[in-house]
Amino acid sequence: MTNARVPYGHQSLDEDDLAAVRQVMLSDRLTQGPVVPEFETAVANSVGSRFAVAFSSGTAALHGAAFASGLHPGEVVVTTPLTFIASLNCIRYVGARPALIDIDPATLNIDLTQVSEAAAGLVAVHYAGLPVDLRKLRSRPRIVIEDASHSLGASTPYGPVGNCALSDMTVFSFHPVKPITTGEGGMVTTNSSVFAESLRRFRNHGITPQPQKGAWCYDVTELGYNYRMTDMQAALGLSQLRKLSCFVERRNAIADRYRTLLTNLSLLLPPEAEMGFRHGYHLFPVRVDNRRQVFDGLRARGLDVQVHYVPAHHHGVNIDLGLRPGDLPNCDAAYDRLVSLPIFPDLTDRQQDRVVNALRTILVS
Ligand SMILES: Cc1ncc(COP(=O)(O)O)c(C=O)c1O
Repeated sequence: MTNARVPYGHQSLDEDDLAAVRQVMLSDRLTQGPVVPEFETAVANSVGSRFAVAFSSGTAALHGAAFASGLHPGEVVVTTPLTFIASLNCIRYVGARPALIDIDPATLNIDLTQVSEAAAGLVAVHYAGLPVDLRKLRSRPRIVIEDASHSLGASTPYGPVGNCALSDMTVFSFHPVKPITTGEGGMVTTNSSVFAESLRRFRNHGITPQPQKGAWCYDVTELGYNYRMTDMQAALGLSQLRKLSCFVERRNAIADRYRTLLTNLSLLLPPEAEMGFRHGYHLFPVRVDNRRQVFDGLRARGLDVQVHYVPAHHHGVNIDLGLRPGDLPNCDAAYDRLVSLPIFPDLTDRQQDRVVNALRTILVS
């Protein structure tokens, strides 16, 4: 067991989670029942937003947010190159035009000072769980969407991530490696009833009920999808949400321990949260000089590190952006050196020591 593989991220499930899912499975409603709205209310209360709308994945939630925002085809929406492709794809889904802005090497987040008045929208990703400081925007695009897939439980001087104090909508992902999980799942929070209504229609085929014409009657007023979350997923999410603050606390403790244990090694530690911010530590991305050697060496020792991310402008699908590797120098320089070390609430000190010892061996050899 001691040498079992250690993943970079992993869900933390207990008997309460299993019991919550089982209870729904034994009930009448597996989907479109009462637990989804319960989970939505719990997330809204947790982050301090007026509304929360559940989706079948973070990607579906991003699609919903881009749709509800009313971005027009051809409008420019800026985002970071150092993210998962879904942050950028949601811009394309609605026909808007993605544009990439380089990262700030001090935070690894998008450099908001470079957002120009030409941008109609912004998808701001809180990379690794470190919130983007939205106060740094010099010119606020009409639509600001936070991609908080990494950062449920993180906070800023203007409140918890997800309260939409400085944005229109915030998107969360509940994939198993994320701060809490529903298997697959996502959520959009907002303070706008108009956005919330649009999001609800969009995830349910564009259906608008028309009970005044009869209890069966509905109209389909716009193109929508089946992006619904099931009640089984919502039950798991509700149960997980009760443990969110413990999870984030544990992630921060693991990060602190890495910082202590890795002090004298020749690597760059991840950016820390500034005063007033709480880091979510979804990831612990260090930067090393010989990334290939370090990555392969750790993997060979059963440590399943990962690289977050191959930058968006390196992917073939984004060739139309007219950017090549090297064109966003801060992002490209970071990417060449990034390795995400294991971090998740159930990571043991012993497993963490294995990571640190392996890194030491590889870096001094
Ligand atoms: C930054 C970011 N945005 C969006 C997503 C998409 O979320 P999901 O996997 O729930 O569709 C992810 C998931 O990996 C992500 O890391």
